[in-house]
Amino acid sequence: MRILIKNGTVINAGGRQQADVLIDGDRIVALIARPTDGSAIADKAGAALLALGADETIDATGKWVIPGAIDSHTHMELPFGGTFAKDTFETGSRAAAFGGTTTIVDFAVQSKGKSLQEGLDVWMAKAEGHAVIDYGFHMIMSDVTDETLAEMDRIVDQGVTSFKLFTAYPGVFYSDDGQIFRAMQQSGKNGGLILMHAENGIAIDVVAGQNAAAGNTDPIWHGRSRYPVFEGEATNRVIRLAEAAGVPVYIVHLSVRDALDAVREARDRGAKAFAETCPQYLFLSLDDLGNGFEGAKFVCSPPLRTKDNWDELWTGLIKDDLQNVATDHCPFDFEGQKELGRGDFRKIPNGLPGVEDRVDLLHDGGVVAGKITPARWVEICSANAAKIFGLYPRKGAVAVGADADVVVYDPNRKHTISARTHHMDCDYSCYEGREVQGGSDIVISRGRVIVKDGQFLGKPGDGQFLKRELAHWVRKN
Ligand code: URP
Ligand code: ZN
Ligand code: ZN
Repeated sequence: MRILIKNGTVINAGGRQQADVLIDGDRIVALIARPTDGSAIADKAGAALLALGADETIDATGKWVIPGAIDSHTHMELPFGGTFAKDTFETGSRAAAFGGTTTIVDFAVQSKGKSLQEGLDVWMAKAEGHAVIDYGFHMIMSDVTDETLAEMDRIVDQGVTSFKLFTAYPGVFYSDDGQIFRAMQQSGKNGGLILMHAENGIAIDVVAGQNAAAGNTDPIWHGRSRYPVFEGEATNRVIRLAEAAGVPVYIVHLSVRDALDAVREARDRGAKAFAETCPQYLFLSLDDLGNGFEGAKFVCSPPLRTKDNWDELWTGLIKDDLQNVATDHCPFDFEGQKELGRGDFRKIPNGLPGVEDRVDLLHDGGVVAGKITPARWVEICSANAAKIFGLYPRKGAVAVGADADVVVYDPNRKHTISARTHHMDCDYSCYEGREVQGGSDIVISRGRVIVKDGQFLGKPGDGQFLKRELAHWVRKN
Protein backbone atom coordinates (compact mmCIF):
# COMPACT_ATOMS: atom_id res chain seq x y z
CA MET A 1 0.00 0.00 0.00
CA ARG A 2 1.44 3.36 -1.08
CA ILE A 3 0.08 6.55 0.41
CA LEU A 4 1.01 10.01 -0.83
CA ILE A 5 0.38 12.97 1.45
CA LYS A 6 0.40 16.02 -0.81
CA ASN A 7 0.57 19.78 -0.29
CA GLY A 8 1.09 19.72 3.48
CA THR A 9 3.63 21.46 5.70
CA VAL A 10 5.90 18.87 7.28
CA ILE A 11 6.83 19.81 10.83
CA ASN A 12 9.67 18.05 12.57
CA ALA A 13 11.63 18.99 15.69
CA GLY A 14 14.17 20.59 13.35
CA GLY A 15 11.70 22.92 11.68
CA ARG A 16 9.15 23.08 8.87
CA GLN A 17 9.29 22.21 5.20
CA GLN A 18 6.83 22.28 2.30
CA ALA A 19 7.04 18.67 1.17
CA ASP A 20 5.02 15.73 -0.02
CA VAL A 21 5.41 12.52 1.94
CA LEU A 22 5.39 9.13 0.29
CA ILE A 23 4.69 6.03 2.34
CA ASP A 24 5.29 2.53 1.04
CA GLY A 25 4.17 -0.30 3.30
CA ASP A 26 5.05 0.56 6.87
CA ARG A 27 7.84 3.05 6.09
CA ILE A 28 8.26 6.60 4.84
CA VAL A 29 10.16 6.24 1.57
CA ALA A 30 10.38 9.81 0.28
CA LEU A 31 10.04 13.42 1.33
CA ILE A 32 9.77 15.46 -1.80
CA ALA A 33 10.40 19.16 -1.27
CA ARG A 34 7.70 21.17 -3.06
CA PRO A 35 8.80 24.36 -4.79
CA THR A 36 6.52 27.21 -3.75
CA ASP A 37 7.09 29.18 -7.00
CA GLY A 38 5.25 26.68 -9.19
CA SER A 39 8.41 25.41 -10.87
CA ALA A 40 8.98 21.72 -11.51
CA ILE A 41 10.18 19.47 -8.71
CA ALA A 42 13.97 19.61 -8.61
CA ASP A 43 14.28 16.37 -6.67
CA LYS A 44 14.66 13.91 -9.57
CA ALA A 45 14.65 10.78 -7.39
CA GLY A 46 11.55 12.04 -5.59
CA ALA A 47 9.85 12.87 -8.86
CA ALA A 48 10.60 9.38 -10.16
CA LEU A 49 9.06 7.83 -7.05
CA LEU A 50 6.00 10.04 -7.44
CA ALA A 51 5.64 8.94 -11.05
CA LEU A 52 5.08 5.38 -9.81
CA GLY A 53 1.79 6.60 -8.35
CA ALA A 54 0.09 5.87 -5.03
CA ASP A 55 -2.86 3.75 -3.96
CA GLU A 56 -4.21 6.58 -1.86
CA THR A 57 -3.54 10.30 -2.09
CA ILE A 58 -4.27 12.57 0.85
CA ASP A 59 -4.54 16.28 0.14
CA ALA A 60 -3.03 18.06 3.15
CA THR A 61 -3.42 21.61 1.83
CA GLY A 62 -3.45 23.98 4.81
CA LYS A 63 -2.57 21.12 7.17
CA TRP A 64 0.52 20.10 9.07
CA VAL A 65 2.15 16.71 8.61
CA ILE A 66 3.74 15.70 11.90
CA PRO A 67 5.30 12.57 13.39
CA GLY A 68 2.79 10.42 15.24
CA ALA A 69 2.94 11.53 18.85
CA ILE A 70 4.57 9.43 21.57
CA ASP A 71 3.09 9.27 25.03
CA SER A 72 5.90 7.87 27.11
CA HIS A 73 3.95 7.66 30.37
CA THR A 74 0.72 5.66 30.46
CA HIS A 75 -0.80 3.16 32.87
CA MET A 76 -3.29 0.89 31.13
CA GLU A 77 -4.99 -1.45 33.62
CA LEU A 78 -2.70 -0.36 36.46
CA PRO A 79 -3.71 -1.92 39.78
CA PHE A 80 -4.04 0.92 42.30
CA GLY A 81 -5.85 1.33 45.62
CA GLY A 82 -7.86 -1.87 45.30
CA THR A 83 -9.01 -1.27 41.74
CA PHE A 84 -7.58 -1.05 38.21
CA ALA A 85 -7.08 1.87 35.85
CA LYS A 86 -10.08 1.57 33.58
CA ASP A 87 -8.57 1.75 30.10
CA THR A 88 -7.35 -1.51 28.65
CA PHE A 89 -4.63 -1.55 26.01
CA GLU A 90 -7.40 -1.72 23.43
CA THR A 91 -9.55 1.18 24.65
CA GLY A 92 -6.62 3.30 25.82
CA SER A 93 -4.57 2.91 22.67
CA ARG A 94 -7.64 3.63 20.50
CA ALA A 95 -8.24 6.84 22.46
CA ALA A 96 -4.56 7.69 22.05
CA ALA A 97 -4.90 7.26 18.28
CA PHE A 98 -7.86 9.64 18.13
CA GLY A 99 -5.63 12.19 19.81
CA GLY A 100 -2.77 11.80 17.31
CA THR A 101 -0.64 9.47 19.44
CA THR A 102 0.76 6.44 17.62
CA THR A 103 3.13 5.10 20.29
CA ILE A 104 2.73 4.61 24.01
CA VAL A 105 5.31 3.51 26.53
CA ASP A 106 3.41 1.93 29.41
CA PHE A 107 4.64 0.80 32.81
CA ALA A 108 4.91 -2.93 33.47
CA VAL A 109 4.71 -3.57 37.21
CA GLN A 110 6.83 -5.89 39.28
CA SER A 111 4.72 -7.02 42.23
CA LYS A 112 6.45 -7.38 45.57
CA GLY A 113 8.02 -10.82 45.94
CA LYS A 114 7.77 -11.55 42.22
CA SER A 115 10.46 -11.24 39.56
CA LEU A 116 10.73 -8.39 37.06
CA GLN A 117 10.24 -10.94 34.29
CA GLU A 118 6.92 -12.10 35.75
CA GLY A 119 5.69 -8.50 35.80
CA LEU A 120 6.86 -7.90 32.24
CA ASP A 121 5.20 -11.10 31.01
CA VAL A 122 1.89 -10.01 32.55
CA TRP A 123 2.05 -6.62 30.79
CA MET A 124 3.09 -8.20 27.48
CA ALA A 125 0.00 -10.40 27.69
CA LYS A 126 -2.25 -7.41 28.49
CA ALA A 127 -1.04 -5.56 25.39
CA GLU A 128 -0.39 -8.23 22.77
CA GLY A 129 -3.32 -8.74 20.44
CA HIS A 130 -5.12 -5.75 21.94
CA ALA A 131 -3.14 -2.55 21.35
CA VAL A 132 -4.07 -0.71 18.16
CA ILE A 133 -0.83 1.30 18.06
CA ASP A 134 2.77 0.39 18.82
CA TYR A 135 3.81 0.13 22.43
CA GLY A 136 6.87 -0.28 24.60
CA PHE A 137 7.33 -0.76 28.31
CA HIS A 138 9.20 0.73 31.21
CA MET A 139 9.59 -1.55 34.22
CA ILE A 140 8.36 -0.50 37.65
CA MET A 141 10.65 -1.95 40.32
CA SER A 142 8.81 -2.29 43.60
CA ASP A 143 11.20 -4.79 45.18
CA VAL A 144 14.90 -4.02 44.77
CA THR A 145 16.87 -7.10 45.82
CA ASP A 146 20.09 -8.82 44.73
CA GLU A 147 17.98 -10.96 42.39
CA THR A 148 16.00 -8.14 40.79
CA LEU A 149 19.13 -6.01 40.39
CA ALA A 150 20.77 -8.81 38.43
CA GLU A 151 17.56 -9.29 36.48
CA MET A 152 17.63 -5.67 35.26
CA ASP A 153 20.30 -6.58 32.68
CA ARG A 154 18.07 -9.25 31.12
CA ILE A 155 15.13 -6.85 31.02
CA VAL A 156 17.27 -4.31 29.16
CA ASP A 157 18.24 -7.03 26.66
CA GLN A 158 14.53 -7.46 25.89
CA GLY A 159 14.14 -3.83 24.89
CA VAL A 160 12.73 -2.57 28.16
CA THR A 161 15.46 -0.05 28.76
CA SER A 162 14.08 2.08 31.59
CA PHE A 163 13.08 1.42 35.20
CA LYS A 164 10.79 3.47 37.38
CA LEU A 165 11.42 3.69 41.10
CA PHE A 166 9.47 5.60 43.72
CA THR A 167 10.27 7.68 46.76
CA ALA A 168 6.47 7.85 47.18
CA TYR A 169 3.77 5.32 48.15
CA PRO A 170 5.44 3.66 51.20
CA GLY A 171 4.48 0.00 51.48
CA VAL A 172 3.48 -0.22 47.82
CA PHE A 173 6.01 0.98 45.24
CA TYR A 174 8.40 2.81 47.62
CA SER A 175 12.15 2.19 47.57
CA ASP A 176 14.59 3.58 50.12
CA ASP A 177 17.68 5.56 49.16
CA GLY A 178 19.95 2.51 49.32
CA GLN A 179 17.71 0.57 46.95
CA ILE A 180 17.47 3.50 44.56
CA PHE A 181 21.22 3.98 44.63
CA ARG A 182 21.88 0.31 43.92
CA ALA A 183 19.45 0.34 40.99
CA MET A 184 21.24 3.42 39.66
CA GLN A 185 24.61 1.70 39.98
CA GLN A 186 23.23 -1.28 38.09
CA SER A 187 21.87 0.99 35.35
CA GLY A 188 25.41 2.35 35.01
CA LYS A 189 26.44 -1.17 33.98
CA ASN A 190 23.53 -2.09 31.72
CA GLY A 191 22.78 1.31 30.17
CA GLY A 192 19.17 1.43 31.36
CA LEU A 193 17.66 4.72 32.43
CA ILE A 194 16.28 5.26 35.93
CA LEU A 195 12.96 7.11 36.04
CA MET A 196 12.01 8.57 39.39
CA HIS A 197 8.66 9.37 40.97
CA ALA A 198 10.15 11.95 43.30
CA GLU A 199 7.98 12.90 46.26
CA ASN A 200 8.91 12.28 49.90
CA GLY A 201 6.25 9.65 50.55
CA ILE A 202 7.27 9.06 54.17
CA ALA A 203 6.75 12.71 55.11
CA ILE A 204 3.58 12.95 53.00
CA ASP A 205 2.05 10.02 54.87
CA VAL A 206 2.72 11.78 58.18
CA VAL A 207 0.93 14.95 57.06
CA ALA A 208 -1.87 13.04 55.33
CA GLY A 209 -2.43 10.98 58.47
CA GLN A 210 -2.56 14.12 60.63
CA ASN A 211 -5.03 15.80 58.28
CA ALA A 212 -7.29 12.75 58.12
CA ALA A 213 -7.20 12.40 61.92
CA ALA A 214 -8.30 16.03 62.22
CA GLY A 215 -11.38 15.21 60.12
CA ASN A 216 -10.06 16.77 56.93
CA THR A 217 -11.08 14.00 54.58
CA ASP A 218 -12.11 15.78 51.33
CA PRO A 219 -10.04 15.41 48.14
CA ILE A 220 -8.55 18.89 48.54
CA TRP A 221 -6.55 17.48 51.46
CA HIS A 222 -4.78 15.13 49.07
CA GLY A 223 -3.25 18.23 47.50
CA ARG A 224 -2.72 20.04 50.76
CA SER A 225 -0.86 17.07 52.30
CA ARG A 226 1.66 16.74 49.50
CA TYR A 227 3.72 19.89 50.02
CA PRO A 228 5.72 21.26 47.07
CA VAL A 229 8.85 21.01 49.22
CA PHE A 230 8.30 17.25 49.51
CA GLU A 231 8.61 17.00 45.73
CA GLY A 232 11.53 19.46 45.62
CA GLU A 233 13.44 17.60 48.33
CA ALA A 234 12.95 14.17 46.73
CA THR A 235 13.85 15.49 43.28
CA ASN A 236 17.08 16.99 44.54
CA ARG A 237 17.87 13.82 46.52
CA VAL A 238 17.44 11.41 43.62
CA ILE A 239 19.40 13.64 41.27
CA ARG A 240 22.22 13.75 43.82
CA LEU A 241 22.11 9.97 44.13
CA ALA A 242 22.31 9.66 40.34
CA GLU A 243 25.30 12.00 40.27
CA ALA A 244 26.98 9.87 42.93
CA ALA A 245 26.30 6.75 40.88
CA GLY A 246 27.51 8.52 37.73
CA VAL A 247 24.32 7.93 35.74
CA PRO A 248 21.60 10.06 34.14
CA VAL A 249 18.21 10.26 35.79
CA TYR A 250 14.78 11.19 34.44
CA ILE A 251 12.14 12.72 36.71
CA VAL A 252 8.59 11.71 35.75
CA HIS A 253 5.50 13.90 36.15
CA LEU A 254 7.27 16.95 37.58
CA SER A 255 4.57 19.29 38.88
CA VAL A 256 6.00 22.23 40.77
CA ARG A 257 8.59 25.00 40.91
CA ASP A 258 10.45 23.43 43.87
CA ALA A 259 11.20 20.31 41.81
CA LEU A 260 11.96 22.28 38.66
CA ASP A 261 14.48 24.34 40.64
CA ALA A 262 16.24 21.13 41.64
CA VAL A 263 16.39 20.03 37.99
CA ARG A 264 17.54 23.47 36.78
CA GLU A 265 20.29 23.66 39.40
CA ALA A 266 21.42 20.14 38.56
CA ARG A 267 21.55 20.86 34.83
CA ASP A 268 23.41 24.11 35.49
CA ARG A 269 26.15 22.20 37.26
CA GLY A 270 26.29 19.71 34.40
CA ALA A 271 24.33 16.82 35.86
CA LYS A 272 22.51 14.57 33.41
CA ALA A 273 19.07 15.32 34.86
CA PHE A 274 16.05 15.14 32.57
CA ALA A 275 12.40 15.66 33.33
CA GLU A 276 8.90 15.54 31.98
CA THR A 277 5.80 17.37 33.03
CA CYS A 278 2.19 16.53 32.19
CA PRO A 279 -0.73 18.54 30.76
CA GLN A 280 -2.54 18.45 34.10
CA TYR A 281 0.25 20.50 35.69
CA LEU A 282 0.12 23.04 32.87
CA PHE A 283 -3.67 23.47 32.66
CA LEU A 284 -5.27 22.34 35.94
CA SER A 285 -4.73 23.53 39.51
CA LEU A 286 -5.25 22.87 43.19
CA ASP A 287 -8.55 24.75 42.86
CA ASP A 288 -9.92 21.82 40.85
CA LEU A 289 -9.45 19.60 43.91
CA GLY A 290 -11.97 21.74 45.80
CA ASN A 291 -15.74 21.55 45.26
CA GLY A 292 -16.30 18.76 47.80
CA PHE A 293 -15.98 15.20 46.65
CA GLU A 294 -16.12 16.22 42.97
CA GLY A 295 -12.44 17.06 43.50
CA ALA A 296 -11.72 13.32 43.52
CA LYS A 297 -11.80 13.51 39.72
CA PHE A 298 -8.55 15.49 39.94
CA VAL A 299 -6.66 13.37 42.46
CA CYS A 300 -3.27 12.31 41.13
CA SER A 301 0.26 12.25 42.49
CA PRO A 302 2.08 14.56 42.54
CA PRO A 303 -1.06 16.62 43.11
CA LEU A 304 -2.31 19.55 41.08
CA ARG A 305 -0.54 22.70 42.21
CA THR A 306 -1.33 26.40 42.52
CA LYS A 307 -1.71 28.27 39.23
CA ASP A 308 1.48 30.29 39.67
CA ASN A 309 3.39 27.13 38.76
CA TRP A 310 2.01 27.06 35.21
CA ASP A 311 4.29 29.79 33.87
CA GLU A 312 7.28 28.22 35.64
CA LEU A 313 6.66 24.91 33.91
CA TRP A 314 6.15 26.57 30.52
CA THR A 315 9.45 28.37 31.04
CA GLY A 316 11.01 25.01 31.85
CA LEU A 317 9.71 23.66 28.54
CA ILE A 318 10.84 26.72 26.60
CA LYS A 319 14.34 26.61 28.08
CA ASP A 320 14.65 22.82 27.81
CA ASP A 321 14.96 22.17 31.53
CA LEU A 322 11.88 20.03 30.85
CA GLN A 323 12.31 17.96 27.71
CA ASN A 324 9.09 16.03 27.43
CA VAL A 325 5.37 16.17 28.15
CA ALA A 326 3.64 12.85 28.84
CA THR A 327 0.18 12.26 30.24
CA ASP A 328 0.58 9.80 33.13
CA HIS A 329 -2.75 8.53 31.78
CA CYS A 330 -4.30 6.48 34.59
CA PRO A 331 -8.10 6.78 34.42
CA PHE A 332 -10.55 5.77 37.09
CA ASP A 333 -14.29 6.28 36.77
CA PHE A 334 -15.75 8.75 39.22
CA GLU A 335 -18.60 6.34 39.89
CA GLY A 336 -17.45 3.21 41.64
CA GLN A 337 -13.71 3.92 41.53
CA LYS A 338 -12.86 7.46 42.69
CA GLU A 339 -15.78 6.96 45.09
CA LEU A 340 -13.73 4.39 47.01
CA GLY A 341 -12.21 7.41 48.73
CA ARG A 342 -15.43 9.01 50.00
CA GLY A 343 -14.73 9.93 53.61
CA ASP A 344 -10.94 9.45 53.28
CA PHE A 345 -8.95 11.18 50.55
CA ARG A 346 -6.14 8.65 51.07
CA LYS A 347 -8.32 5.92 49.52
CA ILE A 348 -9.06 7.77 46.28
CA PRO A 349 -7.27 5.94 43.43
CA ASN A 350 -4.56 8.25 42.11
CA GLY A 351 -4.61 9.13 38.44
CA LEU A 352 -6.32 11.04 35.65
CA PRO A 353 -7.49 10.32 32.11
CA GLY A 354 -5.53 12.23 29.48
CA VAL A 355 -3.97 10.15 26.70
CA GLU A 356 -6.39 11.54 24.10
CA ASP A 357 -6.04 15.24 24.88
CA ARG A 358 -2.30 15.88 25.21
CA VAL A 359 -1.39 16.84 21.65
CA ASP A 360 -4.31 19.25 21.25
CA LEU A 361 -3.91 20.81 24.70
CA LEU A 362 -0.24 21.49 24.04
CA HIS A 363 -1.00 22.86 20.60
CA ASP A 364 -3.70 25.14 21.93
CA GLY A 365 -2.01 26.20 25.16
CA GLY A 366 1.51 26.19 23.73
CA VAL A 367 1.56 26.99 20.02
CA VAL A 368 -1.68 28.97 19.64
CA ALA A 369 -0.92 30.84 22.85
CA GLY A 370 2.46 31.82 21.39
CA LYS A 371 4.56 30.12 24.08
CA ILE A 372 6.32 27.56 21.88
CA THR A 373 6.95 27.07 18.17
CA PRO A 374 5.32 24.27 16.19
CA ALA A 375 8.76 22.61 16.01
CA ARG A 376 9.14 22.67 19.79
CA TRP A 377 5.61 21.27 20.10
CA VAL A 378 6.65 18.31 17.93
CA GLU A 379 9.80 17.96 20.02
CA ILE A 380 7.92 17.69 23.32
CA CYS A 381 5.13 15.56 21.85
CA SER A 382 7.28 12.98 20.10
CA ALA A 383 10.90 13.63 19.07
CA ASN A 384 12.42 13.98 22.52
CA ALA A 385 10.52 11.00 23.92
CA ALA A 386 11.83 8.96 20.98
CA LYS A 387 15.41 10.07 21.70
CA ILE A 388 15.26 9.62 25.45
CA PHE A 389 13.53 6.25 25.27
CA GLY A 390 15.53 4.65 22.49
CA LEU A 391 13.05 4.87 19.61
CA TYR A 392 14.69 7.53 17.43
CA PRO A 393 14.71 7.89 14.44
CA ARG A 394 12.33 4.98 13.88
CA LYS A 395 9.73 7.05 15.74
CA GLY A 396 9.51 10.78 16.38
CA ALA A 397 10.35 12.08 12.91
CA VAL A 398 8.78 12.42 9.49
CA ALA A 399 11.90 11.17 7.71
CA VAL A 400 12.90 8.71 5.03
CA GLY A 401 13.29 5.28 6.60
CA ALA A 402 11.21 6.08 9.68
CA ASP A 403 8.09 4.13 10.55
CA ALA A 404 5.13 5.64 8.73
CA ASP A 405 3.54 6.99 11.90
CA VAL A 406 2.21 10.24 10.56
CA VAL A 407 -0.56 12.64 11.55
CA VAL A 408 -2.26 15.11 9.25
CA TYR A 409 -3.00 17.85 11.74
CA ASP A 410 -5.39 20.73 11.30
CA PRO A 411 -3.95 23.66 13.31
CA ASN A 412 -7.15 25.68 12.90
CA ARG A 413 -9.96 23.25 13.66
CA LYS A 414 -11.60 23.92 17.02
CA HIS A 415 -13.35 21.38 19.21
CA THR A 416 -14.65 21.12 22.74
CA ILE A 417 -13.28 18.43 25.02
CA SER A 418 -15.96 16.38 26.72
CA ALA A 419 -16.52 12.96 28.28
CA ARG A 420 -19.54 12.68 25.96
CA THR A 421 -17.29 12.59 22.92
CA HIS A 422 -13.92 11.33 24.11
CA HIS A 423 -12.85 7.74 23.49
CA MET A 424 -11.13 7.06 26.82
CA ASP A 425 -13.00 4.57 28.97
CA CYS A 426 -13.66 7.04 31.75
CA ASP A 427 -16.93 8.62 32.85
CA TYR A 428 -15.56 12.15 33.13
CA SER A 429 -13.05 14.51 31.56
CA CYS A 430 -10.74 16.79 33.53
CA TYR A 431 -11.09 19.32 30.69
CA GLU A 432 -14.90 19.16 30.32
CA GLY A 433 -16.12 22.06 28.18
CA ARG A 434 -12.66 23.41 27.29
CA GLU A 435 -12.43 24.56 23.68
CA VAL A 436 -9.11 23.79 22.02
CA GLN A 437 -7.73 24.80 18.65
CA GLY A 438 -6.09 22.03 16.63
CA GLY A 439 -6.99 18.44 15.92
CA SER A 440 -5.71 15.26 14.29
CA ASP A 441 -7.61 14.75 11.02
CA ILE A 442 -5.87 11.64 9.77
CA VAL A 443 -3.73 9.29 11.85
CA ILE A 444 -1.46 6.76 10.18
CA SER A 445 0.20 4.01 12.17
CA ARG A 446 2.98 2.10 10.36
CA GLY A 447 1.39 2.86 7.01
CA ARG A 448 -2.21 2.04 8.00
CA VAL A 449 -4.79 4.83 8.19
CA ILE A 450 -6.34 4.20 11.59
CA VAL A 451 -8.30 7.42 12.15
CA LYS A 452 -10.01 9.45 9.43
CA ASP A 453 -13.03 11.77 9.52
CA GLY A 454 -13.56 10.93 13.18
CA GLN A 455 -13.86 7.22 12.38
CA PHE A 456 -11.63 4.51 13.78
CA LEU A 457 -10.31 2.27 11.01
CA GLY A 458 -7.65 0.30 12.90
CA LYS A 459 -7.98 -2.96 14.70
CA PRO A 460 -6.90 -4.49 17.99
CA GLY A 461 -3.65 -6.37 17.73
CA ASP A 462 -2.19 -4.19 14.97
CA GLY A 463 0.07 -2.48 17.51
CA GLN A 464 3.50 -4.08 17.85
CA PHE A 465 5.80 -4.35 20.84
CA LEU A 466 8.76 -1.99 20.44
CA LYS A 467 12.09 -3.39 21.53
CA ARG A 468 13.70 -0.12 22.56
CA GLU A 469 17.37 0.81 22.32
CA LEU A 470 19.23 2.58 25.10
CA ALA A 471 18.75 6.34 25.43
CA HIS A 472 20.51 8.26 22.64
CA TRP A 473 23.16 9.74 24.94
CA VAL A 474 24.13 6.25 26.21
CA ARG A 475 24.36 4.57 22.82
CA LYS A 476 27.84 4.29 21.42
CA ASN A 477 26.68 4.18 17.78
O1 URP B 1 -1.50 9.65 40.24
C1 URP B 1 -0.78 8.99 39.52
N1 URP B 1 0.29 9.54 39.03
N2 URP B 1 -1.07 7.69 39.25
C2 URP B 1 -0.31 6.79 38.49
C3 URP B 1 0.85 6.21 39.24
C4 URP B 1 2.06 7.09 39.19
O2 URP B 1 2.59 7.42 40.23
O3 URP B 1 2.52 7.45 38.12
ZN1 ZN C 1 4.48 8.17 39.55
ZN1 ZN D 1 2.60 7.39 36.29
